[in-house]
Amino acid sequence: MKNILVIGGSGFLGSATIGELARRARYTDACVSVPTRRPERARHLLVIPAVRLIAADVHDPLVLAGLMRGQDAVISLVGILGSAEGEPYGKDFARAHVELPRKIAAAATQAGVRRVVHVSALQAVADAPSGYLRSKAAGEAVFRAAELDLTIFRPSVIFGQGDSFLTLFAGLAKIAPFFPLASPTARFAPVWVDDVANCVVDSLTAIESIGKSYNLCGPQQYSLRELVQYASAVSGHPRMVVGLPDPIAWLQAWIMEFLPEPPMTRDNLRSMRVDSVCGEGSMLPFGRKAAALEAIAPGYLAP
Ligand SMILES: NC(=O)c1ccc[n+]([C@@H]2O[C@H](COP(=O)([O-])OP(=O)(O)OC[C@H]3O[C@@H](n4cnc5c(N)ncnc54)[C@H](OP(=O)(O)O)[C@@H]3O)[C@@H](O)[C@H]2O)c1
Repeated sequence: MKNILVIGGSGFLGSATIGELARRARYTDACVSVPTRRPERARHLLVIPAVRLIAADVHDPLVLAGLMRGQDAVISLVGILGSAEGEPYGKDFARAHVELPRKIAAAATQAGVRRVVHVSALQAVADAPSGYLRSKAAGEAVFRAAELDLTIFRPSVIFGQGDSFLTLFAGLAKIAPFFPLASPTARFAPVWVDDVANCVVDSLTAIESIGKSYNLCGPQQYSLRELVQYASAVSGHPRMVVGLPDPIAWLQAWIMEFLPEPPMTRDNLRSMRVDSVCGEGSMLPFGRKAAALEAIAPGYLAP
């Protein structure tokens, strides 16, 4: 594949995916186009030779049509964690997770770009407890309804350098004497960002992945309490975790929603009502073996 458009490529998973695309592009003459609303936040991508960073509003169908021209494949990574409340999901979730996929699918079809790889989320189903998961399910449905050569990935929580998960816990541990934690028993199977990025890039040329959805999990399951304890210990600030009763957790999340970038929302609490885990085992698609959290996290959390 020569020309690849990565929508949502400036973020955490996007940067890892582009890094992997660029690494493989050294042996080809591939070009990776990355539209972003905020090029100043994506400056780290400018140093990668195969990457073309473009200031663009991907919600504009005309802009999207221009971006699709000459592409061989599209990787769709846009996602947000928070939205105003609303049924079946908030308006920001609707815009980013459903309307944008609809526009991407239409523009890709129009431009004859058949190959699309979309990243959704584990447990995204139409009757999921949270707007995040319901809207991610609706986004998957939009892509499936289009006539595209589609592959969908559904990761559990993703960890790695620059994550907003373990890094957040480690950062909070520095300043907080103890951890008041909502949903301490919620379970996750964290998967390494490079593993997800490699699966996404592998799939571009793996014909057998067309029409398939893959759940992506790390090799081991943990409760949220265990993850917070681990991140705080590895970062050199071991902290006691105090599980919050539900009403207090809701109040805490509601207050946090007033922050510009809330670390937790009531919708996040709803997402955690379902465990974000796959079956046991560390196998990923394409013969890959998932890396263990303990092998990677100390490398970026340790003081
Ligand atoms: N991180 C995880 O633990 C995790 C777990 C499961 C699934 N996922 C899914 O994986 C994907 C990538 O996640 P991530 O952690 O890399 O997210 P991220 O770091 O927050 O990056 C989000 C990307 O989406 C773009 N974006 C956000 N809101 C947008 C909007 N309204 N319109 C257009 N572009 C928008 C941002 O582009 P700008 O440069 O324009 O801001 C950025 O490139 C998402 O679909 C997410 O739902 C992530």
